[in-house]
Amino acid sequence: MERKWWKEAVVYQIYPRSFKDSNGDGIGDLRGIISKLDYLKELGIDVVWLSPVYKSPNDDNGYDISDYRAIMDEFGTMADWEEMIEEMHKRGIKLVMDLVVNHTSDEHPWFIESRQSKDNPYRDYYIWRPGKNGREPNNWESHFSGSAWEYDETTGEYYLHLFSKKQPDLNWENPRVRQEVYEMMKFWLDKGVDGFRMDVINMISKVPELPDGDVQPGKKYAWGGRYFMNGPRVHEFLQEMHREVLSKYDVMTVGETPGVTPAEGILYTAPERKELNMVFQFEHVDLDSGAGGKWDIHPWTLADLKKTMTKWQKELEGRGWNSLYLNNHDQPRAVSRFGDDGTYRVESAKMLATFLHMMQGTPYIYQGEELGMTNVRFSSIDDYRDIETLNMYKEQIENGEDPQAILEKIYYKGRDNARTPMQWDDSEHAGFTTGTPWIQVNPNYKEINAKAAMEDPNSVFHYYKKLIQLRKAHDVIVYGTYELMLEDDPLIYAYTRTLGKETLVVMTNFSSETAIFRLPNDITYSTKQLLISNYDVDEQEELYEIRLRPWEARVYKLQ
Ligand code: NOJ
Repeated sequence: MERKWWKEAVVYQIYPRSFKDSNGDGIGDLRGIISKLDYLKELGIDVVWLSPVYKSPNDDNGYDISDYRAIMDEFGTMADWEEMIEEMHKRGIKLVMDLVVNHTSDEHPWFIESRQSKDNPYRDYYIWRPGKNGREPNNWESHFSGSAWEYDETTGEYYLHLFSKKQPDLNWENPRVRQEVYEMMKFWLDKGVDGFRMDVINMISKVPELPDGDVQPGKKYAWGGRYFMNGPRVHEFLQEMHREVLSKYDVMTVGETPGVTPAEGILYTAPERKELNMVFQFEHVDLDSGAGGKWDIHPWTLADLKKTMTKWQKELEGRGWNSLYLNNHDQPRAVSRFGDDGTYRVESAKMLATFLHMMQGTPYIYQGEELGMTNVRFSSIDDYRDIETLNMYKEQIENGEDPQAILEKIYYKGRDNARTPMQWDDSEHAGFTTGTPWIQVNPNYKEINAKAAMEDPNSVFHYYKKLIQLRKAHDVIVYGTYELMLEDDPLIYAYTRTLGKETLVVMTNFSSETAIFRLPNDITYSTKQLLISNYDVDEQEELYEIRLRPWEARVYKLQ
């Protein structure tokens, strides 16, 4: 396997709005980030993925961009950004920017032009269609509820928006659009950025006829995913982007690709295809979604988690490269979802980190994950801010759903779980701001915060720090092959990683019960070394049979 810096790196995602406010307006900003770079250095991460900081009317918190080459006023200035990247680089931290080019804001000058007239030079920058039988051009549902089409009176046509109606989709069939994107990417690369995380990049190529999706019972609109995800020209476009832009720089790329299978994952990430370095797949975070989608919640099972993770580990091995994540700004907090955010919060947060960071791929930490931050339960819908959540709530209320039942879904799955402010200390608003935060702080900040975590050697923070250090010290963590163990065990997720003569045994207990780990007969060893564990362990203990305590995790290196 070829060595690459981005395979050996650990990435930390910053959601700037919620990270650190420096000027008291209640909104995180770039100077806030600068003030916390020493914290990130201490944690030991190599790369920051920064969610969008470009000029935006914030319909979707910066994922609706009105100027790709300017900084959002709330976040600061270009001079602040330049200082930020310089300070990162000084500390040996690389910067990956979010690239949101499936759509722009409807306030982007291109769209303002595009909607003027059918013969405007920018008309074809977006996807316009006349209505059909007095309705939308097709039956696709937007990711944020309702139709994916918006009627525009000026020209009497509809435009496509897979997300909010303030996020019109760009028309990638138009070569001018692609050139604009490539020029913009070069603009940032020439300013020193070290890569891109590409927002819903597998949605840029639509089946040109835009066929109707399959209508789901009881639903007004249909899921059109198979006509816009991994579409007919997506690989051609990404190869073009690679040729024209990425090949000229030593940068890392990660594509956000919902609905991708391992076979497609290989197409995106096989090095010889020259597209992307890795993708974010969604199968493991969709395990608790039913046929009705994200809000149709049903419990995930450990058996399914094993199947899904193992499939990705094995199928990409030697062919492509995995990203490893349990959290980001769109997902609920992992410790609340896959662990126990009550009694065993600390143990289970460490266990989940072990489970993830020992796999093959590049690990991503989402801000606050390293503290074991949890989901939040606001009592009123008025306390929520996320457009996806608010649109869904409104739609379900209109459908006659019980408000409390909808709130329960939000408590479990809502994106604002990840977006409450970073908990820095136990002062007011968790030290995030001296003003009024744009979204309330999770009330558990008095107990869960960075200051307390840094002072406590047994904290989740120090455990992450150690995991990151281990990655630097043991090649097998990066380059070893993966094998699942104890496939049918109902409580334990265990696997090995092997490189040459070295084998790692990773054992994790996904339950609040005691679980017995038995080493399979085919694994033998003459020496063993405990690399990390989330409980005190007797170093002399042999591996043949181990009683794993609730949410216990251990990693041994065998030779
Ligand atoms: C995926 C982003 O992660 C999410 O936050 C955003 O709402 C959509 N793409 C649309 O840009």
